[in-house]
Amino acid sequence: MENKILILDFGSQVTQLIARRVRELNIYCEIHPYNSKKYNFDDYKAVILSGSPHSVRGENPPKIDLSAVKGKKPLLGICYGAQYLAHFYDGEVGSSNTREYGRANLSYVNTESPLFKNIAIGSQVWMSHSDTILSLPKNYKCIASTHDVKNAAYEIEGEQTYAIQFHPEVYHSTDGKQLLENFLVHIAGVSQEWTSDNFVDSTVAGIKEKVGNDKVVLGLSGGVDSTVAAVLLQKAIGDNLYCIFVNNGLLRKNEYSSVLKQYEGMGLNVKGVDATQQFYDELAGLSDPEAKRKAIGKVFIEVFDQEANLIEGVKWLAQGTIYPDVIESISVDGGPSATIKSHHNVGGLPDFMKLKIIEPLRMIFKDEVRRAGASMGIDAKLLGRHPFPGPGLAIRILGDITPEKVAMLQEVDAIFINGLRDHGLYDKVWQAGAILLPVQSVGVMGDERTYEKAVALRAVESTDGMTADWVNLPYEFLQKVSNDIINKVKGVNRVVYDISSKPPATIEWE
Ligand code: XMP
Repeated sequence: MENKILILDFGSQVTQLIARRVRELNIYCEIHPYNSKKYNFDDYKAVILSGSPHSVRGENPPKIDLSAVKGKKPLLGICYGAQYLAHFYDGEVGSSNTREYGRANLSYVNTESPLFKNIAIGSQVWMSHSDTILSLPKNYKCIASTHDVKNAAYEIEGEQTYAIQFHPEVYHSTDGKQLLENFLVHIAGVSQEWTSDNFVDSTVAGIKEKVGNDKVVLGLSGGVDSTVAAVLLQKAIGDNLYCIFVNNGLLRKNEYSSVLKQYEGMGLNVKGVDATQQFYDELAGLSDPEAKRKAIGKVFIEVFDQEANLIEGVKWLAQGTIYPDVIESISVDGGPSATIKSHHNVGGLPDFMKLKIIEPLRMIFKDEVRRAGASMGIDAKLLGRHPFPGPGLAIRILGDITPEKVAMLQEVDAIFINGLRDHGLYDKVWQAGAILLPVQSVGVMGDERTYEKAVALRAVESTDGMTADWVNLPYEFLQKVSNDIINKVKGVNRVVYDISSKPPATIEWE
């Protein structure tokens, strides 16, 4: 049994947050759908049951055989997990009379319970449930309540089983991290040794063992994930790692040359391939966003395939895939469904896709990728870069793409992004960029009437890009940036700021 935790997912929206909180405690954990065949209880030191959109009283509630765990290993039920361990063991769960969503405060805490060590009455917790535990089975002891929820937490005598109705994983539960630490460290006795340094050491050792003296090819994008993956691989196999950085002509102003230089400075074995013209040729005349994405994907594969073929005897393709891309999600009917996207037509696979795949970041979250990068000495500026879409500026130029439009947008984008940096705002924003609109409007410059392009600026805050809100940038800043853009970028006479949230809008305009 290794020093790791199993989180069984019953389909809650916030299961990934449980994993992130556990990892923040320097404890390694894995998420698996409750009905997956890929986990074995023997491999884990403790088990956490997640919440769920289902009700234990529903027609077909997700069920699982816990005989190898309950009473045998430390077990924590959260929300649905708590109701589950009550309902299916002779307790009673019913629908709640009062609304139990949002903030609540603990009105009773059994301070003798190890689960509530250092957590006091009054502590804020986050509730989100429509069922409630009306009565507890024999041997179960209530250890916390709120004003509306009597059985907000319980423990089972003679077992290391604990359960809580509220969600310790969300930030609004102010002592949530302490509670998880109490369970994992003090009750389950798990040691906190999952650190960035350990991750780097064990991953490098793992790559060495797996890859040996083989050659590996990796596509660098300039983003955080592919860069950290490359540095890890380079530490393990040195120049047997062949990196390819493709210029699609749709990057930010000067990005190709500056990032390439930075990669070379980091000692990476990297080859820059300027395929700008190929991308522009394929994009010529295309206006539909999906058609543009397809064209870019097609050329990228052609270019990458050609380059990979030049590396004699290459056996592996490395990718910067991270954990959220590989966690299996629960589909509505309760069955597990892989979220992994690309389904390629087998006969027609490009050559590089026939390589064996290595994904050194596939078990870690974005914040852990950044920390691993920092512990390997990667420049903080590079690690803090905003996300940038693969199709680049092509999906920020509405309508067809021409080299002139790209050049114009690059100028606008550079003024905006440099402005954010100069005003200390860059790191407060999750992602920012400029959009070239297919709109011309009338303006006046000097005594001249102009009829030129309008651009939109977009800056959002988000944690994962799934939801986002526009950033309330200071008016003085917007005023300065707008002035600079109109004065310095020929062909633009109007700047607007996008104040839409996602949903219903998206971050990109296409
Ligand atoms: P949306 O526009 O869907 O964007 O709200 C969410 C996040 O995904 C990025 N994005 C893409 N990234 N290829 C990518 O690699 C794409 O086609 C693409 N479309 C959107 C977007 O920049 C944001 O970070």
